[in-house]
Amino acid sequence: MIAVASDHGGLELKQTICDMLQARGLPCEDYGTDGTDSVDYPDFGAKVAAAVAAEKIASGILICGTGIGMSIIANKYPGVRAALVHNEFTAQMAKEHNNANVLILGGRILSPEDGLKLVEIWLDTEFAGGRHQSRLDKIVAAEQRLQKQ
Ligand code: RB5
Repeated sequence: MIAVASDHGGLELKQTICDMLQARGLPCEDYGTDGTDSVDYPDFGAKVAAAVAAEKIASGILICGTGIGMSIIANKYPGVRAALVHNEFTAQMAKEHNNANVLILGGRILSPEDGLKLVEIWLDTEFAGGRHQSRLDKIVAAEQRLQKQ
């Protein structure tokens, strides 16, 4: 199960991605938005990030116009590793090195074809572990220190 959400700037790409996920046999939980009206990206990014942070859902995809706003809101949630990717290399590294559990895309930057390709790369790449896990452990430690303050 993958949770997907967008604002109006990512609506078209979100729908394309949901169709692709379903075609791959991956159920897509669509957290909105559902129409072309202007909406606020934090409302939708927070839904997916909260579900991933609570471990209700293992991973998510968020799309706004640039991907920047969705990145900012998603990474506020402990346990969320949200990665804004722009090309095949960053999509691969987002999983291989960062084990990103939320993929972020810019709906006004990527064509639907390019967006789909980046999602496929992220899905098909394995986390490398090893020294990269140690680095993620340091992020968890930082989150825990911040929660105590
Ligand atoms: C909406 O106009 C736009 O600001 C939003 O989609 C996103 O790009 C924000 O980071």
